[in-house]
Amino acid sequence: MQVLEHERFVGRATSRVDGVLKVTGQALYAAEYGAPGVLHGVIVSSTVAAGRIRKLDIRQAKALPGVVEIFTHENRAKAAWLDRNWRDDVAPPGHPLRPLYSDRVLYSGQPIALVVAESFEAARDAASMVRAEYDVEPHCTELERKRAEAYDPPEKRSGIPPPPEPRGDAEQAFSEAQYKISRDYRVNPEHHNPMELFATTCVYQSEGKLTIYEKTQGSQNSQGYVCSVFGLKPDNVRVINHYVGGAFGSALRPQQQLFLAVMASLELKRSVRVVLTRSQMFFIGHRPDSYHSVSLAADRDGRLLSITHDAVAETSVFEDYQEALVNWSGMLYRCDNVKLSYALAKLNTATPCDMRAPGAANGVTVLECAMDELSYEVGIDPLKLREVNFTANDESSGKTLTSKALLACYIQGAETIGWRKRKREPRSMREGHELVGLGMATGVWEASLQEAKARARLTAAGRFEVSTAASDIGTGTWTILTQIAADALGVPIEAVTLQIGDSSLPSSPVEGGSWTAASNGSAVAAACEALKRTLFKHAKGMANSPLANASFDQVEFKSGRIARKDDPGGSLALTEVMHAADLPDIVEDGSVGPNAAQAKKFASYTHSAIFAEARVDEELAVVRIPRIVCAVAAGRILNPKTARSQILGGVVMGIGMALHEEALMDHRIGRIMNHNLAEYHVPAHADIEQIDVIFADEQDEKVSPLGVKGLGEIGIVGTAAAVANAIFHATGKRIRDLPITLDKLMRTTGEGR
Ligand code: MOS
Repeated sequence: MQVLEHERFVGRATSRVDGVLKVTGQALYAAEYGAPGVLHGVIVSSTVAAGRIRKLDIRQAKALPGVVEIFTHENRAKAAWLDRNWRDDVAPPGHPLRPLYSDRVLYSGQPIALVVAESFEAARDAASMVRAEYDVEPHCTELERKRAEAYDPPEKRSGIPPPPEPRGDAEQAFSEAQYKISRDYRVNPEHHNPMELFATTCVYQSEGKLTIYEKTQGSQNSQGYVCSVFGLKPDNVRVINHYVGGAFGSALRPQQQLFLAVMASLELKRSVRVVLTRSQMFFIGHRPDSYHSVSLAADRDGRLLSITHDAVAETSVFEDYQEALVNWSGMLYRCDNVKLSYALAKLNTATPCDMRAPGAANGVTVLECAMDELSYEVGIDPLKLREVNFTANDESSGKTLTSKALLACYIQGAETIGWRKRKREPRSMREGHELVGLGMATGVWEASLQEAKARARLTAAGRFEVSTAASDIGTGTWTILTQIAADALGVPIEAVTLQIGDSSLPSSPVEGGSWTAASNGSAVAAACEALKRTLFKHAKGMANSPLANASFDQVEFKSGRIARKDDPGGSLALTEVMHAADLPDIVEDGSVGPNAAQAKKFASYTHSAIFAEARVDEELAVVRIPRIVCAVAAGRILNPKTARSQILGGVVMGIGMALHEEALMDHRIGRIMNHNLAEYHVPAHADIEQIDVIFADEQDEKVSPLGVKGLGEIGIVGTAAAVANAIFHATGKRIRDLPITLDKLMRTTGEGR
């Protein structure tokens, strides 16, 4: 699609168009919208992990001044009965959570009451006075204990491919191979913790008519959920998420506060706001706990002969959450004998949910740690091992990749970190009291194009408006869509008014899977293209038009004019065209979607090479990561500034995964104990030093109409492995249980091989 003729903005480092609004507090988030007489809801959560609510004593709470109502399973409103009405666009199979539906408790932290009051303070105070008594039943929150009962989920989650059938004979090849490793790993659960708390402000307009300000990655997903659960008409429910303060996957599915705010609003016929506490944010879904067994075998040159990757991951007792956890191990490297398996085990926790690069951030990390172990076994440089096994195909499906500039990532990343200076032997580099190590890993994530629509409008006054129901979860969507539209229409960024974050706009998938730039971006380009064609038709038809003999290909849109490419003098201002057409506006739609014919032959992924330097205090086992280099091949880079920012965020999260982030469960009571940001440590500034981001040149005309692959997730994939591998190289200690906290490093005596 040749729509971006001038590319004055696309490809250029452009500051966020919403930046000023955000730093001046003018960008409103879900909990910041006011409404006349808005009521405040505070959720009471269960403190036991399984059982039934025997008694809920709400008398004292109800008597508090300002308390309007307390909703429990005993007086909750009517809502849909069938599971399918509760299932949102990205729900896994199973029985979705129905807050306050019955006396049954399935996990600690489950909502058991909503206190609604005239003020937040009154609601919070009253919530603390709700007394629950339970008939406690046995629970299990320990994946280790449930591994023996792990099962293949009978119903597969839509959009998540199950592991492919085995190819070759992995066991036979393994037993015959000379160089091999067999290792067990664990990746502990992680919690998203976006800055913005989950919040819904439900504005009651009139009987059955609501405007909902909602923290979500998909306004239309939330709208569909509300309509289906409460039986409301889509025209009467408008969901707005103009700005989203991070989400990382946690806001793909509608969360409990949406249901509770809407229910209370409909019952009380008032506007209601419900905000989760930071503590409650730990009980709404997380990256699942997982155990992995990996066996790799190679010949003396490092060529892979056999790959086996078996994983067991947790799900809740009521839904079968699934992600592509082991599939990467079969597609990334050339190997003829591969066997993969993925099983679930039920725990009394909230249903796990997608978290930045779900399945890859954890699964690829395990594969890449195992590859590092194999490299020492073979006695080959870890980077060389990856290069030797490079493939330009998706090895699982056999499909050709539309592009894979991974070798360039290896070369540029290695050059930047100074890989050549690395000494082969672990524990062979030191500086002062610190052991120094260099480690690396490959990253991979899918590059997908989803169905998306957009609309472009030119007003009589010459103003462009472009809209699509995309969400910007902090990724830069506001900015890149504006850049794309401005270039397509040949006008400055300031001449384009973008509208996103509103369920009433042209349809869009949830913002997830790193597909928004490619999907909504291409839809915006298509809508602009359609608008230009219509404008050209009007221009051509004008009396004495200088474009009368021109074809569409012979003109260009530039500086608010349509001009002949061969004779810029022969041009018309868009305002003249609008005036002559005598229309208040011209509106055109554009849409994109996956190309089914192409998908039969080709597959598309984003790739990266991550290099990490680790420094480990020999006495104290304190780990520092002074440097990470992340070289990414993601097709066309729309905005190097926001793109770099996405990779930085992913890398920081990868460091958190490697070293810090760990939910500590007290299995006796089945409850996370460090449900706060003081004890669940996400990397802070002091944990992060230099991060270099490199974008390898990658032209890909097939992956999406704009040649864009997407960047939201690739930065985290492999980063934890690069860090773990660097720590091994520094210390000779192999920790196979993430995060690598210093107690584990101190306990391990060394020689993890
Ligand atoms: Mo992403 S985990 O699809 O928001």
